[in-house]
Amino acid sequence: MSVNKTKKSPAIKGVCLSIGLSLTMFSGISSAATDQDLLNMCMACHGKDGSSEFTSIPNLKWQNAAYMVQQLEQFKSGQRQDKTMTKVANLLTTEQMKAMADHFNKGKEE
Ligand code: HEC
Repeated sequence: MSVNKTKKSPAIKGVCLSIGLSLTMFSGISSAATDQDLLNMCMACHGKDGSSEFTSIPNLKWQNAAYMVQQLEQFKSGQRQDKTMTKVANLLTTEQMKAMADHFNKGKEE
């Protein structure tokens, strides 16, 4: 599959914009957000089963679950930094990180 960068970048801007909005929404109600709400947000960027359509977003499908939890902990603690993932990880409890990691590790569609 050939990657057409000029075609992809507006699409990713759209995704980031809408996610940015939902992040703002989530930050107010983070304690009430269900695992499914959180998972939907992850899927918007990382793909339904964790295989991302965007070259700038890593695939999570079949990744080691313990590795993913560790990365999320590091985003949250500031040890690893990314504008988006730091915000996302701040919304997650360790339990939720495990649930998300387990989901993408299995690579299922939902
Ligand atoms: C707005 C888009 C976006 C959303 C939403 C998002 N991510 Fe990410 N994620 C990224 C990007 C971009 C990176 C790469 C960051 C970097 O370069 O360090 C990343 C990196 C990661 C990594 C590290 C992968 C690796 O190979 O090291 C994990 C794990 C991860 N995300 C999990 C999640 C989970 C779980 C959620 C939902 C709770 C989520 N992400 C939501 C964009 C997103």
